Amino acid sequence: MSAQLEETPRIRQMLLKDLDEVIVIEKEVFLFPWTQGNFGDSISSGYHCYVLELDSHIFGYGVMSIGPSEAHILTLSVASGSQREGWGDKLLQHFICLAKECCARSIFLEVRKSNLGAAKLYESIGFRQVATRTGYYPAMGGREDAIVMELVL
Ligand SMILES: CC(C)(COP(=O)(O)OP(=O)(O)OC[C@H]1O[C@@H](n2cnc3c(N)ncnc32)[C@H](O)[C@@H]1OP(=O)(O)O)[C@@H](O)C(=O)NCCC(=O)NCCS
Repeated sequence: MSAQLEETPRIRQMLLKDLDEVIVIEKEVFLFPWTQGNFGDSISSGYHCYVLELDSHIFGYGVMSIGPSEAHILTLSVASGSQREGWGDKLLQHFICLAKECCARSIFLEVRKSNLGAAKLYESIGFRQVATRTGYYPAMGGREDAIVMELVL
């Protein structure tokens, strides 16, 4: 009997060698993507940078900074072919555990006002809207507001 061993998806730290794959997803899911330099700077600054990996391929990632009392999720993405499978939620839960381990009291993030899917995910985890930043994001033909959300840990 031959059995095919399937790898289980895993969350691991992002490495510089991952950035070519990360950028492909970044450009696929965002109209105004981060650059390779933005991710490289995040790694070298000691931010918490993680990827979702299956069979040596990256299909999602996120970046979080943690200060003395607050954490900030700076970006979070799941490749379009792997969305709505619970991976965004799993990556967020991972960041929540890390923030708690570092004794953060809250996690903050910004989301485009039009990004209702992401906002729904954050709300389902317990994030609540605490502010609006007017014109925070570049947008086609102008600027777009950011909704600031907080999860109290
Ligand atoms: C937002 C994002 C990270 C969510 O990741 P995901 O793996 O698709 O989300 P999950 O499967 O974990 O979703 C969990 C729940 O969140 C909500 N949700 C997630 N995406 C949604 C969408 N597009 N529309 C409506 N609800 C959504 C649903 O309640 C979902 O549960 P369900 O599938 O059982 O209905 C992903 O869609 C993505 O990378 N989008 C493009 C980049 C982006 O917008 N990043 C966020 C920037 S702030």
